[in-house]
Amino acid sequence: MRLVALSSIQENVYLAENVLNSRGQVLLRSGVELTSSILKRLHSLGITYVYIEDARTDDIYIRPVLAEETRREALTMMSEAFHQVKKELAEGSPRFGLHKMEKRFAVVVRDIISQIKERKEAIDLLTHLYAHDDYIFIHSLNVTIYTLALSLKLKNLTAKQTEELGLGAMLHDVGKLLIPAAILKKPSRLTGEEFELIKKHTEFGFDLLRKEHSLPVTVAHCAFQHHERLNGSGYPRGISGDEIHIFGKMIGIADVYDAVTSNRIYRKAMLPHEGMEILYAGSGTEFETAYIEMFRKAIVMYPKGLTVWLNDGRKGVVSEQNEHMSDRPVLLILEEEGHVLDVPYKVNMAKETTLMITETDTTLFYT
Ligand SMILES: [Fe+2]
Repeated sequence: MRLVALSSIQENVYLAENVLNSRGQVLLRSGVELTSSILKRLHSLGITYVYIEDARTDDIYIRPVLAEETRREALTMMSEAFHQVKKELAEGSPRFGLHKMEKRFAVVVRDIISQIKERKEAIDLLTHLYAHDDYIFIHSLNVTIYTLALSLKLKNLTAKQTEELGLGAMLHDVGKLLIPAAILKKPSRLTGEEFELIKKHTEFGFDLLRKEHSLPVTVAHCAFQHHERLNGSGYPRGISGDEIHIFGKMIGIADVYDAVTSNRIYRKAMLPHEGMEILYAGSGTEFETAYIEMFRKAIVMYPKGLTVWLNDGRKGVVSEQNEHMSDRPVLLILEEEGHVLDVPYKVNMAKETTLMITETDTTLFYT
């Protein structure tokens, strides 16, 4: 299978991965032909790239990070929890009923942890193709996966701490329920006042979560601190260094990374290695350097199925990942010296160290 831009698809092309809505339900099944009306529909759902079946790359297989049931349960549970909170807030209830769902959250978080632990490959969330109709749940799930993947590289958290961190990541943006949707989804530039209001989601989330006495206070601090930065440039309090809880630091990294690598109303997504550049730019100033390094090891830089060009002019598709060298994958070379090869062959960039990826198929994201 191959990752391609919707805009580049012509006739007789078949979808190779399911497309889901924000609750994890299947909108389009793999195997369906991408007719012009289906392409139009995908476009209107905010999808800019898809995996397609392709005879030359049909041995490239992508194992999703989460089992479909886990993903669906996580998204459904979050949407039910958020709706419940919203209802109780509207009714003026002093606390919200999250404690009733605590066991369900714990089961999902444990499931996600065990699936990430079992996974031999780095994390690649591009494989989960979503219609971005209600982004907050997908974002919360992605941040949970990235945060847990980072924390598992750290290796010094207990199982209980890891579970608390997972729960905190799932609920880190719960305070956004108190921000008007018109501001959250505003496609144009925010005014200063609007931005100040958005910043308040950290405090709102903290207030909501700390009232739930059955939840560990660290979970409330995940909401409170995920926008704080190492050098004190973050919000809401502008705390710095060790004043920031390690959970806040980890979620902060996962949050920024998911924000820049996902499609949003106001801009297109970046590719994983471009998102990583953004984190590097803040390494040691905004983000803990050691965590950035761990994060880089946890995630895929060049997703499978992505078309890339090498410094010697060859063109190929990423076909396998090298476990400890996320920036040097195995490629299936399709073109050489401007000619399409009859028989594609593989090149392992981990072994051929003079090779560099100089270009990626940016039409995926920028058209
Ligand atoms: Fe946030």
